[in-house]
Amino acid sequence: MDKAIISYFSGTGNCKRTAQILGRFFKGKNYQTQIVNISTSNPKDFNPAKFNIFIFPVYCFSMPQIMKKYLRRLPPSPGTNASVIATFGAQDAEKAGDEGRSLVQARKILTDKGFNVLYSDAVAYPSNFTQVVNVMPENVEEKVYEVSDLKVAQMAEKILREEIYHKPCLKIKAFVISLFDWMFSIFGRVFMGKLYVADKKCNSCGICVKECPAHTIKLIGGKPFWNYSCQACQRCINICPEKAIETSFVRLIVFTSLFIAFVIKLIGALVHGGLILAFSYLCIYVIFFAVLDFIIRQFEKVKFLSPLLTLSHTKKYRRYIAKELP
Ligand SMILES: Cc1cc2nc3c(=O)[nH]c(=O)nc-3n(C[C@H](O)[C@H](O)[C@H](O)COP(=O)(O)O)c2cc1C
Ligand code: SF4
Ligand code: SF4
Repeated sequence: MDKAIISYFSGTGNCKRTAQILGRFFKGKNYQTQIVNISTSNPKDFNPAKFNIFIFPVYCFSMPQIMKKYLRRLPPSPGTNASVIATFGAQDAEKAGDEGRSLVQARKILTDKGFNVLYSDAVAYPSNFTQVVNVMPENVEEKVYEVSDLKVAQMAEKILREEIYHKPCLKIKAFVISLFDWMFSIFGRVFMGKLYVADKKCNSCGICVKECPAHTIKLIGGKPFWNYSCQACQRCINICPEKAIETSFVRLIVFTSLFIAFVIKLIGALVHGGLILAFSYLCIYVIFFAVLDFIIRQFEKVKFLSPLLTLSHTKKYRRYIAKELP
């Protein structure tokens, strides 16, 4: 029996849902179907099948760092067919985001590994960017699922027919995005992880620790602490049963001010001082960031300061985990 391997990364379930739709489709066509969650599997164990489909969410118009790493570590697979699907965020039933250069990136990494990428396309699902934008209402969510699940089923038909299609991305757009992607992959996702705080609703259940795909959350004194390897996947903020995880205003203001000061210094150093001075500023910035994080964390342990340190716009936001397929 021919086989289909569907490998996905998912923060809040949209890509898992996409993988499940494809899985059901290929099973229905009598393929032996394997669905692989890349955050809990070793890329070295990848054993190519007739159909190899890779699915990931779009972050900052690019691929998530964790997915890039996984694809780069796959064994060389010359002549193996592959397909790529990206899910990006819809704000409501009519307004959707953009997959940017994520498909171009995935195609490049897979092609370098010897894969023959036949198909790459993107589909909108409810935006999960809870740290920044509120989640759409549940009734609108249902409409998005209806349209997007159908689109995924159509993609599955095309992949099965081995149709060649690549959603285009202008070269100039891909170039501009690559600058943001670089910043986001190195600093942005770490920065976003450092904005989290657990408010008084936290009951120390440890679910966020267990669920984090980057294993970057620890419970210290019964409260979660976010380390430096966040992927910005939004799972913790959305999965906490108590809705206790927020984006801290205090952390946002302190770290953003520090970042702006750093950028001004960096530009000055590059214009007047050269690369060594610029590198020194980078080191000072990293040290300052870590020290400020430590100090804020000590204040967060003080009970009477908690209302101030957990002030947040996300308290009003709904949380989002993709619905299970019917
Ligand atoms: C850090 C971050 C950045 C995002 N950037 C984009 C983006 O550039 N364009 C877009 O359309 N959606 C963007 N999104 C939305 C997600 O790509 C989208 O909701 C995706 O379906 C989530 O998939 P998942 O539920 O499998 O994690 C972003 C989400 C996050 C968390
Ligand atoms: S999941 Fe929520 S309640 Fe449980 S430890 Fe994490 S923040 Fe606290
Ligand atoms: S800390 Fe939260 S947002 Fe960051 S990788 Fe872990 S679960 Fe995802």
